[in-house]
Amino acid sequence: MKILVTGAAGYIGSHTIVELLNNNYEVIGIDNFVNSKKEVVGKIEKVSGKKFKFIEGDVRDLEILNKIFNENDIEAVIHFAGLKAVGESVSMPIEYYDNNINSTLSLIKVMKKYRCRKFIFSSSATVYGAPNKLPILENFPLSTTNPYGTTKLVNEYILSDLYKSDNNWEITLLRYFNPIGSEKTGTLGENPNGIPNNLMPYIVRVAIGQLEKLYVYGNDYPTHDGTGVRDYIHVVDLARGHVKAIEKSKKGINIYNLGTGTGYSVLDVVKTFEKVNNVKIPYVITERRPGDVAECYADVSKAKREIEWEAKYNLEDMCKDSYNYIVKNIKK
Ligand code: NAD
Ligand code: UFG
Repeated sequence: MKILVTGAAGYIGSHTIVELLNNNYEVIGIDNFVNSKKEVVGKIEKVSGKKFKFIEGDVRDLEILNKIFNENDIEAVIHFAGLKAVGESVSMPIEYYDNNINSTLSLIKVMKKYRCRKFIFSSSATVYGAPNKLPILENFPLSTTNPYGTTKLVNEYILSDLYKSDNNWEITLLRYFNPIGSEKTGTLGENPNGIPNNLMPYIVRVAIGQLEKLYVYGNDYPTHDGTGVRDYIHVVDLARGHVKAIEKSKKGINIYNLGTGTGYSVLDVVKTFEKVNNVKIPYVITERRPGDVAECYADVSKAKREIEWEAKYNLEDMCKDSYNYIVKNIKK
């Protein structure tokens, strides 16, 4: 089966292409490198030992998409491409709405024309807003608190309306919790430019001495140690979830949480990271980060039941692999 993967050079896209190639899918990747590097394409081939077709371009560009669909018999699309920084989305809402919504509209227009109706969309746990109950089930109420989150929710609505208009579509909305880690060789991973916003990219920079200490955003949440609790998931498990979603794709709007189902606090992550990597992570407690929720973790039973997927890596693996990647890719 030929699959078009958008955002192919990104953190989750690159890991997913490796898994797809390992499972003998034919992949066509597209990325405009707005948040990734060209060298990732070669790295994917190195890690998987297989070649794939890659096109540099913007997913909103109908001419490029038409050419891709015209020249290849594409059966499914996995749509990762998008802008993803919550804080940036607040200061640049137009760019976020344009990129994250118009990319989906372009894709589904061209898919419709070429009668390709299998679509896997990268959604996020952020669409649950501040959940009233835990663990989070797929049918919980939806809301957002920032433009990034709103783009995810609007995409979900667009795809649901598309299905209502034509019941032949097979649409899967994957709501990721907190992906961290990297594949075993430490070739692919996450290394954002500038000072990282997310916990694990920040911790690894402290571990290698590029940042002095971690700022823990609040220790007065109603959690076991007062710090925020999240459902961290190994990116390789997440990537495997996409292969399962393709295998089990069916008509309808099919929504799955992809997480481990277990919540860990900021200090749990720090302690585990220190233990498995034998490094010290100095930290200070500072005030809460605006917009953060106390706890967020998934009920993952639906994915297990319907697409036969569950995470197999634990927090120790995630901490080891995140560190391995940064050690092998330190920017001097
Ligand atoms: P990433 O930024 O590493 O990857 C996204 C890729 O898309 C980048 O390589 C970027 O260059 C590319 N891109 C962006 N806009 C494009 C466009 N218009 N045309 C072509 N390429 C474009 O992000 P990621 O962590 O791999 O996330 C992938 C998807 O998963 C995103 O949609 C993101 O919102 C979603 N998601 C991520 C997380 C997370 O914590 N990483 C959590 C939930 C959901
Ligand atoms: N945290 C710190 N210090 C830091 C960074 C984070 O204490 O320097 C804490 C946060 O307060 C939170 C936890 O670590 O309690 C995790 O924070 P992240 O920024 O790593 O992740 P979030 O859960 O805030 O958000 C992430 C993605 C969103 C996505 C969401 C749900 O950034 O895009 O997961 O999937 F929507």
